[in-house]
Amino acid sequence: MVIVYESKTGFTKRYAEMLASKTGFKVFSVKEIEKIDKNEEIIFLGWMKVGKVQGFDKVRKYNVKAVIGSGTGRTAEPDTETVIARNNIGNIPFFYMRGGCLPLKQLKGMDRLMLSFFVKMLKKRKDMDEETEEAIYNIENGFDGIKEENLAPVLEWLRAKA
Ligand SMILES: Cc1cc2nc3c(=O)[nH]c(=O)nc-3n(C[C@H](O)[C@H](O)[C@H](O)COP(=O)(O)O)c2cc1C
Repeated sequence: MVIVYESKTGFTKRYAEMLASKTGFKVFSVKEIEKIDKNEEIIFLGWMKVGKVQGFDKVRKYNVKAVIGSGTGRTAEPDTETVIARNNIGNIPFFYMRGGCLPLKQLKGMDRLMLSFFVKMLKKRKDMDEETEEAIYNIENGFDGIKEENLAPVLEWLRAKA
C-alpha cells in the first residue's frame, strides 16, 4: 500500500505525510504516479475544488483502495453522497478530512477569483448562520484545520481491512 496525494497549498500534503508516519507507507505526489506499479494498492488524498477531488482522475485507473478529500468545510459539502457521485468514486471507501486554506489575499489567479466570488455569494445569504460566518472568516483570513485525530477513521478502516 502506498499514499498518493494532490495538494495545491500544502494542507493535503501534510495529511499525506501524517498518514505515512502513522502507517509506514511511502508517499508520492500525483506527478510521480508513473513510479507506482499498476497493482499496488493506493490511498489517494486530494484537495477539493468546487466539489471535485483534485487529481483523482489521474489515479482512478490505478488500484485505488480509498479516497480522501480535503476541503475547508466542516464536513464534505454539500454531503458525502453527492461528493461520491460527482467524482465517480463508486464503491471505493471515501473519507473527508478538514484541511485548511491560506488567507484569500495570498491566493493567486483563478483560485483567488473563484473564492472571492464564493465569499461574495456567502455574504449575500439571507439565512446567515454561524457556519456560513465561519466559512467567510476562514476564507478571508486563512485557517488551519489539520488535526491528527482526523486520520482516525482511515486508520480504523486500515485496521479492519488488515
Ligand atoms: C477555487 C477553490 C475551490 C474550492 N472548493 C472547495 C469545495 O468545494 N469544498 C471544500 O470543502 N473546500 C474547497 N476549497 C478549499 C480547499 O479544498 C482547501 O483549502 C484544501 O484543504 C486545500 O488543500 P491544499 O493545501 O492541499 O491545496 C476550495 C479552494 C479553492 C481555492
